[in-house]
Formats: sequence, C-alpha cells, structure tokens
Amino acid sequence: MAKKDTIFYCQNCGHEAGKWLGQCPGCREWNTFVEEKIVKSKAAYKNTSFGGANGGASENKPVILTEVASENEERLKTRIEELDRVLGGGLVPGSLILVGGDPGIGKSTLLLQVCQKLTSKVKTDVLYISGEESLRQIKIRADRIGQFSDSLKLLCETNLSIIESIIRKTTPSVVVIDSIQTMFCEEITSAPGSVSQVKESTALLLKLAKGLGITIFIVGHVTKEGTVAGPRVLEHMVDTVLYFEGDRHAAYRILRGVKNRFGSTNEIGVFEMQSVGLVEVLNPSEYMLSGKPKEASGSVVACLLEGTRPILIEIQALVYQSNFGMPRRQATGTDFNRVNLLMAVLEKRLGLQMASCDAYVNLAGGLKIAEPALDLGIVMAIASSFKNRAVDDKIIVFGEVGLSGEVRSVSMPALRVKEAAKLGFTTCILPKVCLNACAEEVKKLGIKLIGVESLRDAIDLI
Ligand code: TYD
Ligand code: MG
Repeated sequence: MAKKDTIFYCQNCGHEAGKWLGQCPGCREWNTFVEEKIVKSKAAYKNTSFGGANGGASENKPVILTEVASENEERLKTRIEELDRVLGGGLVPGSLILVGGDPGIGKSTLLLQVCQKLTSKVKTDVLYISGEESLRQIKIRADRIGQFSDSLKLLCETNLSIIESIIRKTTPSVVVIDSIQTMFCEEITSAPGSVSQVKESTALLLKLAKGLGITIFIVGHVTKEGTVAGPRVLEHMVDTVLYFEGDRHAAYRILRGVKNRFGSTNEIGVFEMQSVGLVEVLNPSEYMLSGKPKEASGSVVACLLEGTRPILIEIQALVYQSNFGMPRRQATGTDFNRVNLLMAVLEKRLGLQMASCDAYVNLAGGLKIAEPALDLGIVMAIASSFKNRAVDDKIIVFGEVGLSGEVRSVSMPALRVKEAAKLGFTTCILPKVCLNACAEEVKKLGIKLIGVESLRDAIDLI
C-alpha cells in the first residue's frame, strides 16, 4: 500500500490523527479536523545548530559549560517595569517570546509600546512586522500611544521567506511578529493559521532568533479554551510564553508568565487600558479596592497571592430568600463548585440554614482566582450577607477552609499582612497557625492579628 502523504490535524489543539474524526480525542471539540499535507520541516532539519557560542556555524561540536558566555548581564531592559518583571529582568538575546491572548485584549498595543520604549532612549533597532494591519492602521495606534523615534521600522508582510531575508539583511535586535496565525511558508500548501503552517513558521523564527541572537516576539491568538489557537506545540518550541488576559469590558489587563526559560513564572504584570494605550498599574491592590462600598454587608477584603505578589481584592456575596423551588447559586471570578462546597460547610458546621436561599458571589474587579486562601473571605462574605451584618472596613481576611470547618494555613502570610498594612488595614483575620510567621510584622507595622482555628471563631467576629 502506498504511504499516505496527508495527515489530519485538530485545528483547535493540534492533535494528529491518521483519519478524519468527528470529535477530537484531545480537546473534545467537534468538527475541528482538517487534512493537511505532511511536510518535512525544512527549518527544523536544515542545520540545526543554534547555540549562541558558535552562532549557528556549520560545524557543531561540544563545548565546556563553564566557558559558555553567561548571557544574564546582557539582558535588554524594555523599561516597562511590569513586563521586565514577568520576563525575569528583561529580554534575553536569541530568545523567542510568545504573547498569547484573546483578540482585542491589547497584544498589538503592548508590543507597539515595547517597541516605543526600546527605541526611544537607547536606540535599539526594532522591526515590527504586521500581517494583520496596514501601515495606516498601525500609525493610528502609534499616534494614540505617543512619540516614536526613527529606530523603529514597520513592515506589512506575511510571507516568511521574504521576512527571513529582510531580517538577515537588516539584523534588527528585536523583531515583533503580529501574528503567527497570519504568517505562511511557501513550501507548505495548507492555509495560514493551520497547524502545520504555524509549526513550520515558528521553527523558522526559532532558528532565526537563535542563529542571529535577536529577540523575537510572536503574537498568538487564543481559542475559547484559552490555549494558543491551533497548536499547543507552539508553547513547547518557544522560550517564554506570556498570556495577556483580562475582561475586555474591564480596563485592567494582566500579563502572566506561563513558561519562562530565563526566569520564574510566578510573576504577573498589571496594566490598565487607557485612551493613550496601556498604563502600568504599580499598586494593583489600591486599584482593585477603589470603589469598595463602606459598611455594606456581604463585602469582605481578602488577600491573594499572584506568584510572589500580594493583591488585595474585594469579595462580594449576596444571599437572600429564594422565590423559586430551586435556589440559584452563582460565582463570578471564582470556582462555582468551591462556593457550593463552602456553603455546605457553613450549613453543616455552623447551622446557617441557606438551603432555600439564592446566593451570588462575585470578585470585584473582574479577576479570576481559584486560590484556596480566598476561602475564608468567601465564607465570611456569605455569612455577612446572610446575617445582614457588615464586616468592618479595616479588616482583611485570608485562610483556607477545610471540610470540617477548620481554618488551615496558607503560604507566605507575612507578605499578605504587610500588603494589608501598607494599604491602611488595621486588623487581619488569619489562620492561627500562621501567627508565628507574622510576629515580626506585628511589631514593625502595628497591625492587629486575630488568629482563628475554626470557622466558628471567624464568623463570631462578624
Ligand atoms: P489591540 O492591541 O489591537 O488588541 P489585539 O492586538 O490583542 O487584538 O487592542 C485593541 C483594543 O484596545 C481596542 O479595542 C481598543 C483598545 N485601545 C484603547 O482603549 N486605547 C488605546 O490607546 C489603544 C491603542 C487601544
Ligand atoms: Mg492585534
């Protein structure tokens, strides 16, 4: 039998199959398989050496580890503090950075601002390649953002072999590809955005980045499941994966490191979309708490940790007698099942009769958080709304709640207490076992700590 020269790819997750399938076994989506020609990747097989040490020279040989130049000092600061932090201190030469996010979230804006910063003071040569917008459209956006210097060059092109030759000729230090789904290699017959195109294009860019020692940003659109459209494979190929997320209707945006070969993935950057582009939010807690109602029942401030960064957030709950046989429960910004579980704990352990009540829980500001440290805050907000008694404005709460109604420890309590004190909170309700870890903060900051062992202790404080 002749060997087949086509293969079916799921356009959603990149799953490969020898025959057409109705439903993808990988991501469970329907009707996503498309037949594509099998191509031997040119970029991936043609001279694969790209170690910075020999700069992609044709002869490849082993080198002594200690003799390899350390690239840490060479990091190029983008001078957008929030981005530098997520990147682990700046751009590493010869790296490939994928920026993913929903359409319209602000990826192009962010990268254009990166270009602006890179070219404004320390004239770095930057090439911005767009396959989505015309020069005019980019110019309109640039006019909103501000002044640009001559070191930034624009190119509207989707053919990667032309792009490759231009990059090789002009050797810019930083290149932006907006977006990978519009790029295509001539050798591959399938349409731009298909799995084999995206894979091959990325392989080619990877080779360019490593060989020439330039930093390449790739923009990738995200599917509704939240993975980069088409191929998860893309995430394995690049050095750094950043996701730009946030509610399109809210102004704030969060840049999150998902993978980073040159730093930790625990950091987030917070931005706000304004009429002049993205503005860094250096104090997210203050931003999240702006507009918090005073003396309202069902509103509690909790402290969550994003990586190593504490953020204060308001949890709101609304509990009231249901008019229907089947009460409604809803959670916005946090896990629905977790809220149900916590309500069950409240009923069973504290005897609050909420079986016939509608309950709504909302994290103000539009953040989406599943951290267990929010448990105590959620429980207190629900109880506060149920009893119609407000929790003091100067109290913050954090702790995990177990099924027997015990309050369990959380990570880095001292950091959380410090952040609370910084924003003027005077009392902190936290798991009793965390008290010792915060002893120093109490002495220094004069914040009052109330350690609780069980849910009952906490609810009695309302
Ligand atoms: P964009 O960067 O085009 O998103 P993406 O590249 O991720 O698809 O940003 C699109 C949104 O940002 C658009 O809806 C308008 C808004 N925006 C502002 O609010 N202020 C600004 O200064 C700019 C440039 C865009
Ligand atoms: Mg865009």
